[in-house]
Amino acid sequence: MTEKHFKRTLVTAALPYANGGVHIGHLAGVYVPADIYARYLRLRGREVLFVCGSDEHGVPITIRARKEGITPQDVVDRYHKMIKDSFAEFGISFDIYSRTTSKTHAQTATEFFRKLYDKGEFIEQESEQYYDEETKTFLADRYITGECPHCHNEGAYGDQCEKCGTSLSPTELINPKSAISGATPVLRKTKHWYLPLDKHQPWLEEWILKGHPEWRSNVYGQCKSWFEMGLQPRAVSRDLDWGIPVPVEGAEGKVMYVWFDAPIGYISNTRELLPDTWETWWKSDDTRLIHFIGKDNIVFHCIVFPAMLKAEGSYILPDNVPSNEFLNLEDEKISTSRNWAVWLHEYLQDLPGKQDVLRYVLTANAPETKDNNFTWKDFQARNNNELVAVYGNFVNRALVLTQKYFDGKVPSCGELTDADRQTIAEFQGVKADVERLIEKFRFRDALKEAMNLARIGNKYLADSEPWKVWKTDPDRVATILNIALQLVANLAIAFEPFLPMSSKRLREMICLGDANWERLGATDLLADGHQLGKPELLFDKIEDSVVEAQINKLEEIKKANAAAQAKAAPVAAPIEFEQWEKLDIRVGTVLECEKVPKADKLLRFLIDDGLERRTIVSGIAKYYAPEELVGKQVCFLANLPARKLRGIESQGMILSAEDLDGSLCVITPQKQVKPGSQVK
Ligand code: MF3
Ligand code: ZN
Repeated sequence: MTEKHFKRTLVTAALPYANGGVHIGHLAGVYVPADIYARYLRLRGREVLFVCGSDEHGVPITIRARKEGITPQDVVDRYHKMIKDSFAEFGISFDIYSRTTSKTHAQTATEFFRKLYDKGEFIEQESEQYYDEETKTFLADRYITGECPHCHNEGAYGDQCEKCGTSLSPTELINPKSAISGATPVLRKTKHWYLPLDKHQPWLEEWILKGHPEWRSNVYGQCKSWFEMGLQPRAVSRDLDWGIPVPVEGAEGKVMYVWFDAPIGYISNTRELLPDTWETWWKSDDTRLIHFIGKDNIVFHCIVFPAMLKAEGSYILPDNVPSNEFLNLEDEKISTSRNWAVWLHEYLQDLPGKQDVLRYVLTANAPETKDNNFTWKDFQARNNNELVAVYGNFVNRALVLTQKYFDGKVPSCGELTDADRQTIAEFQGVKADVERLIEKFRFRDALKEAMNLARIGNKYLADSEPWKVWKTDPDRVATILNIALQLVANLAIAFEPFLPMSSKRLREMICLGDANWERLGATDLLADGHQLGKPELLFDKIEDSVVEAQINKLEEIKKANAAAQAKAAPVAAPIEFEQWEKLDIRVGTVLECEKVPKADKLLRFLIDDGLERRTIVSGIAKYYAPEELVGKQVCFLANLPARKLRGIESQGMILSAEDLDGSLCVITPQKQVKPGSQVK
């Protein structure tokens, strides 16, 4: 079907797991492109619905809850709110953002499962699975740890060894242990329901490989290779106490597999928003369904979910599944577990008001055809050299000149020169280019075209030099500025899908009213004599110190990760027992403690050592505020010859433990002892 046959478009964005925040990889991969698309369609006056929500089931959420000693519901409540707020802050314009713990979702997923069951679309199979006899639960793959059969890493999980990257099945682990109780699990029979994907393969292959050659090559290619390997039945239930119960007799203690219920969330959320008309969006051939996802979700959206929809029988299938590759951060894979990410809630704190800058950088750098890289230096460069120097600068020059020569009123356009005509022709072409590119999901190139309008404008002002012409030919300046201002108004429309917040500000600045996409390219967006508002800067320069702070933050994370992986140093060469006996280590009480001026590492201690008072200088200032040590007991080496440090005579050495990350903490006896007690 060509696009013309569709009456409406349902845009979905992958439901993020509610067990953590959202980071720039999510934003770049899924939510910004989906938002650009939805905003664009709305601007064109198309009927569109943009649906998302939190994915709140699954094992990782139960693991996190157990770790924190709270319920899974507590976990998802916390992150659902956080995720929802972040999206709102970044202007992601969902028509609904709900959640898979909603009532409507439970009802919709239950009906869906039951219908497939009643139609005989599942197969039932018994298999042997690990069972923890202590906690009386079947163990999800992630809950089983053991030794990897390939690299012999002892901390491998039942689904994967994170050290060598191999995917595993739990029975391959050597010496498996339950991650909940530590017990050795036993194999037990359990029954599950499977979706026989093998049975669906013929029509799926035909539908995708023949019917959708226009899908992105990464998506098409991944599907093709799944087909080549041959689809297998997939279990759609789990032995778990967190999820939607399997609505079948004899299924006590079993819930739907999270990847079964989550995509149904798209349907439930539509239904929650439009209880009476949701079916028009899901069951009508003139609705076009588009799923925005990241590449790790391809198989679920192109194969599993369509098979579910087809098996149910009354739903439409997706028309396209624009999936992005991954975004790396400073040349390394983004990783939630290693905290290697730029989290949206932190970005908002550190760079307030700069949401559009991030939207811009992530779109200009979108991982559409290959993995891409986010660096803070590039972020700064794109802000300073593109948003500030090209877009912001052009707008500002046009507005300031109009303010100066025409009191901020749009001057009338006189006779056009060839150069004027050429400029106008150039910017009139941008509309069709942006449209063509957005409709092909090429947002990166579309953004470049929008930016091109500002480049055209800058060049036009530079070539026509109104500031020089003013003295001799004010009418000519009126024409130049009229054209420049029309361009400014065009920019406010063209950037609307990409940078909604700055577009709005710009429209307010020039008193333009709502953006009307159909007028993009027009040369009469601003009438003669139209009063403009006060010119303000659309974007601010980002200083080195700001990106340096971000880079430092990442370096700290790297250090912490290295420390977490670090191993204790090997034991030093043996010493004689007499050498040990020579060390006189004692406990003392700290009477005074203060910073040594002009030495950022050193603290000066005055210690009661049981005999007298002694001064010791120690290099631990980075790890303590001096006050917090006063009154504490510390251990010190008492018979070290005195030596001068920064002009202070230090009589001994305070003993500290150096953690594997290099940080220091003083050694304190486990209970108060008399000052002067010896450490043996
Ligand atoms: N929560 C999944 C992820 O973050 C995506 C679920 S998409 C849906 O990878 F289709 F299941 F909704
Ligand atoms: Zn391994």
